[in-house]
Amino acid sequence: MKMPDHVHTCSSILILSALLLPNGIDIYSLTVDSKVSSRFAHTVITSRVVNKADAVQEATFQMELPKKAFITNFSMIIDGVTYPGNIKEKAMAQEQYSTAVRRGESAGLIKATGRKMEEFQVSVSVAPAAKITFELVYEELLRRHLGVYELLLKVRPQQLVKHLQMDIHIFEPQGISFLETESTFMTNELASALTTTQNKNKAHIQFKPTLSQQQKTAGQQDTVLDGNFIVRYDVNRTASGSSIQIENGYFVHYFAPEGLPTMPKNVVFVIDKSGSMSGRKIQQTREALIKILSDLNPRDLFNIIVFSEEATQWKPALVPASEENVSMAKSYAATIYASGGTNINDAMLMAVQLLESSNRAELLSAGSVSLIILLTDGDPTVGETNPKKIQKNVQEAIGNQYSLFCLGFGFDVSYAFLEKLALDNGGLARRIYEDSDSALQLQDFYQEVANPLLTNVAFQYPSNAVEEVTQDNFRLLFKGSEMVVAGKLRDQRSDVFSAKVSGQMDMQNVTFETESSTAEQEKLFQSPKYIFHNFMERLWAYLTIQQLLENSVSASDAESKALKSRALNLSLNYNFVTPLTSMVVTKPEGQEQSQVANKPVEDGKCEGLWLGSLNVTALLRHLHLHPLPPAQGHQTSLPRQDSSSGCDSPFVLEPSREKGSPTPRVSRKPSHFLFLKSGTERRRSCRADLDLSPPHLPSSVQPPTVILLLPEPSVDRLCVDIRHTQGPMDLLLDPGQGLEVTGEYKAEKAGFWWIKVTFKNPELQVHVSPERIVVTRNRRNSAYNWKETLFSVLPGLKMTMNQTGLLLLSGPDKVTIGLSSQNSPAKGLLLFLRDTDRFSSHVRGTLGQFYQDVLWEPPAATDDTRRKLKVQGKEYSATRELKLDHQEGTEISCWKVEL
Ligand SMILES: *[C@@H]1O[C@H](CO)[C@@H](O)[C@H](O)[C@H]1NC(C)=O
Ligand SMILES: *[C@@H]1O[C@H](CO)[C@@H](O)[C@H](O)[C@H]1NC(C)=O
Ligand SMILES: *[C@@H]1O[C@H](CO)[C@@H](O)[C@H](O)[C@H]1NC(C)=O
Ligand SMILES: *[C@@H]1O[C@H](CO)[C@@H](O)[C@H](O)[C@H]1NC(C)=O
Ligand SMILES: *[C@@H]1O[C@H](CO)[C@@H](O)[C@H](O)[C@H]1NC(C)=O
Ligand SMILES: *[C@@H]1O[C@H](CO)[C@@H](O)[C@H](O)[C@H]1NC(C)=O
Ligand SMILES: *[C@@H]1O[C@H](CO)[C@@H](O)[C@H](O)[C@H]1NC(C)=O
Repeated sequence: MKMPDHVHTCSSILILSALLLPNGIDIYSLTVDSKVSSRFAHTVITSRVVNKADAVQEATFQMELPKKAFITNFSMIIDGVTYPGNIKEKAMAQEQYSTAVRRGESAGLIKATGRKMEEFQVSVSVAPAAKITFELVYEELLRRHLGVYELLLKVRPQQLVKHLQMDIHIFEPQGISFLETESTFMTNELASALTTTQNKNKAHIQFKPTLSQQQKTAGQQDTVLDGNFIVRYDVNRTASGSSIQIENGYFVHYFAPEGLPTMPKNVVFVIDKSGSMSGRKIQQTREALIKILSDLNPRDLFNIIVFSEEATQWKPALVPASEENVSMAKSYAATIYASGGTNINDAMLMAVQLLESSNRAELLSAGSVSLIILLTDGDPTVGETNPKKIQKNVQEAIGNQYSLFCLGFGFDVSYAFLEKLALDNGGLARRIYEDSDSALQLQDFYQEVANPLLTNVAFQYPSNAVEEVTQDNFRLLFKGSEMVVAGKLRDQRSDVFSAKVSGQMDMQNVTFETESSTAEQEKLFQSPKYIFHNFMERLWAYLTIQQLLENSVSASDAESKALKSRALNLSLNYNFVTPLTSMVVTKPEGQEQSQVANKPVEDGKCEGLWLGSLNVTALLRHLHLHPLPPAQGHQTSLPRQDSSSGCDSPFVLEPSREKGSPTPRVSRKPSHFLFLKSGTERRRSCRADLDLSPPHLPSSVQPPTVILLLPEPSVDRLCVDIRHTQGPMDLLLDPGQGLEVTGEYKAEKAGFWWIKVTFKNPELQVHVSPERIVVTRNRRNSAYNWKETLFSVLPGLKMTMNQTGLLLLSGPDKVTIGLSSQNSPAKGLLLFLRDTDRFSSHVRGTLGQFYQDVLWEPPAATDDTRRKLKVQGKEYSATRELKLDHQEGTEISCWKVEL
């Protein structure tokens, strides 16, 4: 297929889902079964299909799984015959099936999609009336980030499924301290299909929607099930911070001590301000940097280096993060603009030099932790540009004294280069996806490393007791994370297994000791419902392979070869599809023969490439959409944000204007959803963005700022009008509810400019602006667009939003808070309250005061449209008026009070 010239060749392809829907292929059963034992997740997805057409049809099995997971099995059962996937050494599989590889099919089976997922897809021909069972198995160790483990399941059957069921069983011997679920497709109707049962150390989450619950519209074939289903939890911890678990001759040791103080740190931020960063990227970087600087601890020292062709340091040495210095740094950060080339080498050497000279001048406190955080979006173009030489220069300069963290912004950067740079120097690399929430991604990354607790952490086990232990020395332990060591027990008869973990805090060295009874541990893991066979051994193998692959990045050539050979051996022995192995998928005789599935690696600049046989031009025409060259910068309905797929934005779409029609029209029939093959996150935003019909509100009647529903029988509704812009306001403060709502009203926007809702229990902050919603929980931010679907169940609080764009925060004993944006960026936010009888008697604030004892004077005999009321000694006049109720879209009569 020839691509239009102006379209980037590295592109994702648009597909109309209606065209993809298999003709006559009916999925009659789809089950997802996840067992999580002690953080190790084993997921089995089974899809059963039948060909209802009277001709041979192509059945496609398509499933997304987390990038960190390894596929361990895939099989097809056709006419009672099992066609298993065989996992082989990559090179061998490639050679054996070189015809398939030459035809480019190998690339198609697994591809990176989105930030966290990759997609597995296999197609097979099915005879009329024949049934096929597809079964995919994958495993993954859930790692703790900012205090939570997260299990992410993607749900996208693309059709109604008679028997659809998801079961998630969690078993955590330490006890589950909290558990929450979130989903991007949940509706009130569907929520009744979700049940969660939980006791001290086990949880079972089941989701089993009926056909009618799956329907988007009654009587239609479209499914609402499309999106993420997330389970988050954490476990209880003891003061020693250790938990040792033993099963079938293997052990795992988790270490995450509570209550340690944060060590002071010295941070040098090295920020790329080359030309490629210009526009949104540098703006987001400034925004993030300003927030990050505010989060520095007063005991920290810091400095900023910006670089393009040349590197410039903000101050000649590291400075204390005092309020005054942070404030100056923020002013400096606000002026960073982008232009010029990329000289990573000089910038990095300057950063090391700064730490060195500050160290020599005895500015750095004893026992502090020194970090360099590099943010760049491109390959080196100025100065030393040979990646190998830069890596060598930086490693020599750092000399194991400081830890380097590299953030690669977007996909124009060689991730492999940054990853090696970081791993060589005791840190890690992260990709920052170019998107509307890039600033939040940067802040979240900083949060992960903001609180070092221990350095030089070493795990020790009695000699002779263990063998084949995974990495047991770590440079840094950060708050909210967890260290994991696994190994094989040498002597299984021994009763007690003891371990020591030593580390350095800033002023002292500490050792944590722990003991575990082997017999008791073994007994724990004997419940077959929660345990899959030999899971601890598989956990050990998984962890070992991950570490061998990681270590091979910074090893010498010979070492790297040995490490990879061992990783390969384990991958084959334990049947894991890793970057070193491939899975050969066999098909029945007579069909195009075996295909090879390879795991994508986080490296290439363009992984999401998938060219199907679809005619994009025809497709777009069908949709009345025109592809535009991204460079023209049109104001369009679809933002440029396709980096999640690994590619530059290929298309910017704009609905075509039909002749004579004043408004753009986009067909909104459900079968006409537009989506991008890779990057399902994008798909959602397309859908929201294509909704071009804001409801028409009558303009003669003005809406009030807020309508308060009062429990009073005589005065049921109060319309509060805020007439003037008056800075941030305390709207509702209710210590009894553990609730605070603050916000800033702008009269010219006829709404709030921002609103912040803070809950004490569970601890949660929701910050909304006309652009987006940011939820902060456990120092972790999640961003949502208005009209995106959101269904998040936290203990005691539910957070929901659907395509109508009303965000509701509610709970069994909580006042319900509704927030919505007014469908126009020029307008502010609206606030609604329900269940207001739940306010405590202590509620205060601009709005809260009306839920206190309000004294109404009786209406005058002559004019019953005016009344006076007294709230906490202050008198207000109220008039009876007709107002527009935004939420209902109707006019109502209420008592209006102006503030
Ligand atoms: C893969 O799954 C198939 C079907 O369930 C099974 O027959 C086969 O033994 C499995 N292979 C492995 C290595 O577990
Ligand atoms: C774990 O913590 C939760 C909440 O703090 C508590 O309710 C529960 O009893 C604890 N479980 C165990 C096994 O200690
Ligand atoms: C701020 O930084 C300067 C160096 O630029 C340093 O001399 C001064 O002590 C710092 N201020 C505070 C309050 O720490
Ligand atoms: C902690 O141990 C290290 C290495 O053994 C030693 O160099 C350091 O001085 C010790 N620190 C303290 C505060 O005792
Ligand atoms: C690979 O595994 C086999 C057993 O499957 C073993 O015999 C062999 O020694 C291993 N090779 C290496 C290099 O570890
Ligand atoms: C794609 O569709 C357009 C419009 O229908 C048509 O003109 C063009 O020839 C098609 N291209 C291919 C390669 O089939
Ligand atoms: C959206 O949510 C509101 C409030 O929960 C509900 O009234 C409405 O029916 C929902 N709309 C859809 C399309 O689910």
